[in-house]
Amino acid sequence: MKSFSKIFMNYALVSLFLLVNLFSISCKNKETKTEMEVKKEFFGKTTDGQNVDIYTLTNKSGMKVKIINYGATVVSLTAPDRNGKFEDVVLGYDNIEGYEADKSYFGSIVGRYGNRIGKGKFKLDGKEYQLSINNGENHLHGGTIGFNKKVWEVIGYSDIKYNNLMGGSFITMKYISKDGEEGYPGTVELTVNYTLSKDNELSINYTALSDKNTIINPTHHSYFNLTGDPNKTILDHELMIDADNFTPVDKGLIPTGKFADVTNTPMDFRKPNKIGVRINENYEQLKFGLGYDHNWVLNKHQELEPMIATVYEPTSGRFMEVWTNQPGIQFYCGNFLDGKVKGKNGVMYQYRTGLCLEAQHYPDSPNKPDWPSVVLKPGDVYRQATIYKFSTK
Ligand code: BGC
Repeated sequence: MKSFSKIFMNYALVSLFLLVNLFSISCKNKETKTEMEVKKEFFGKTTDGQNVDIYTLTNKSGMKVKIINYGATVVSLTAPDRNGKFEDVVLGYDNIEGYEADKSYFGSIVGRYGNRIGKGKFKLDGKEYQLSINNGENHLHGGTIGFNKKVWEVIGYSDIKYNNLMGGSFITMKYISKDGEEGYPGTVELTVNYTLSKDNELSINYTALSDKNTIINPTHHSYFNLTGDPNKTILDHELMIDADNFTPVDKGLIPTGKFADVTNTPMDFRKPNKIGVRINENYEQLKFGLGYDHNWVLNKHQELEPMIATVYEPTSGRFMEVWTNQPGIQFYCGNFLDGKVKGKNGVMYQYRTGLCLEAQHYPDSPNKPDWPSVVLKPGDVYRQATIYKFSTK
């Protein structure tokens, strides 16, 4: 009898142990499941009464990317440092009012033509077009009300099954730009997909169609600060750009049309170098840009080329790779930030506290017939793929 009760007790204990474990496993599963869900929350109403939502993408390793359907904008992106601490590494605003007033294009998709077009003029099929002028005498980032100031349609986002299977998540948004908008010919339908992979890559895939011959060159405009502290400058970040040439500009930042060799100039980032080392040199191109604000001619751009640019931040150990299929990259280091703009958590963004690496065609390409074409014809599909990949060293 005694041994029977002992066996029973043991059996009960083992069962209890199994039950507790099963319960905690199922709780854990539940936890990962809710974690892996793309979360949709209300972000705010635009002044013309449109609702804007904020979507949180997550991945298995714990990265979080928050995106709003106003400007298809990345509002925050957390990446781990070398001790596994996640911090937000992009600049942005806490609310829709911030994005509506924004003049810095924080985190958004800019277009129809990212970057500058001289005097906003170009010829296509023998006809001259005049685009809106919004930057001195030039056209910048799609004009007065570019794609960054539009409410995009959310086409869909990944469900929990996909997220759990892939260890990441995605969202797809669309914007239809009408014929004549900001002076551009043709109605363009642009679709942008943001995918956060299990390997800490944020991939941005663009596709566009047009009903008439037009020009197109959208890009992504996140300001990165890999320290995780937006009060610090980006001058100690180590930058590499795989480019032997850049496109020198005039005072209005319009390319002269020539390529210039980076050898023996402050524009040489073929080997990783701290951004601040040569930024204040008495070099005409740096005077024009108030620092770096130039397009580099990428050595490789046949396919989705890995590591055409990298950024390493030595204190946190964060390392960011940029992959793209575009021929150029604009490196801009926040020279126009002046401490007057209040960003997330009330931080006043100071001079050179964020850097942009904008994959794109060269600026003013519509007026440079020898440069890679930016013309999109009906029946053709515009495709861009750009990846920002995060790891640590
Ligand atoms: C341009 C800068 C411009 C900035 C606006 C960058 O892409 O290169 O000249 O001031 O965008 O935020």
